[in-house]
Amino acid sequence: MSEPTSKNITWHGANVTTEEREGALDQKGVVIWLTGLSASGKSTIARRVEQLLLERRVFTYVLDGDNLRMGLNKDLGFSPADRTENIRRVGAVAQLFADAGAVVLTAFISPYRADRDQARSVNTKGRFHEVFVATSLEACEARDPKGLYKKARAGTLPEFTGISAPYEEPLAAELKLVTEGRTVDECAREIVEHLASNGFIA
Ligand code: ADX
Repeated sequence: MSEPTSKNITWHGANVTTEEREGALDQKGVVIWLTGLSASGKSTIARRVEQLLLERRVFTYVLDGDNLRMGLNKDLGFSPADRTENIRRVGAVAQLFADAGAVVLTAFISPYRADRDQARSVNTKGRFHEVFVATSLEACEARDPKGLYKKARAGTLPEFTGISAPYEEPLAAELKLVTEGRTVDECAREIVEHLASNGFIA
């Protein structure tokens, strides 16, 4: 990670530890990093996980690609450099939420392995779980809910992931989620089970 541009800055530590925050919440802060092609189901699954966790009184929050690109990341497009900056910012924001004790669900294509590794590196070891939403390109293209694959094939949407821009599959994701032939609810429950079996939630 590069050094901050500002020089005369000093780190101010908190008076309470992450452990104390987590003790009050009875859960552990963790980043569940969903990665996969556009229309693979990342956002839909994350939203269902959020619902299931709130039913269990778990403090949780979803960071979603399309949504953050309307605010925090509204200055970014889809060039490789902009995607890298997108993921760098999200990795940092997710770290803050996890430090606050939340179960953070991120839903970004995050197509580059190096960018996902960078996001992992700024988060606490063992508290960053990559979930590969392993929907095939064929299935994503058949779904095409926003009509983007159609535009990409027609050549009117450049640098589209899976068609004219790369997607680098995770080599060692903590969880590989098969979605084809399964419901959103089944996929979401697999993530909730993963959180419970790893001791992040009671
Ligand atoms: S990422 O590559 O930088 O991680 P992110 O998840 O934030 O992407 O945004 C992806 C969403 O932006 C897609 O689901 C789609 O709705 C929209 N989008 C628009 N243009 C593109 C493009 N060229 N490639 C991929 N997604 C795009």
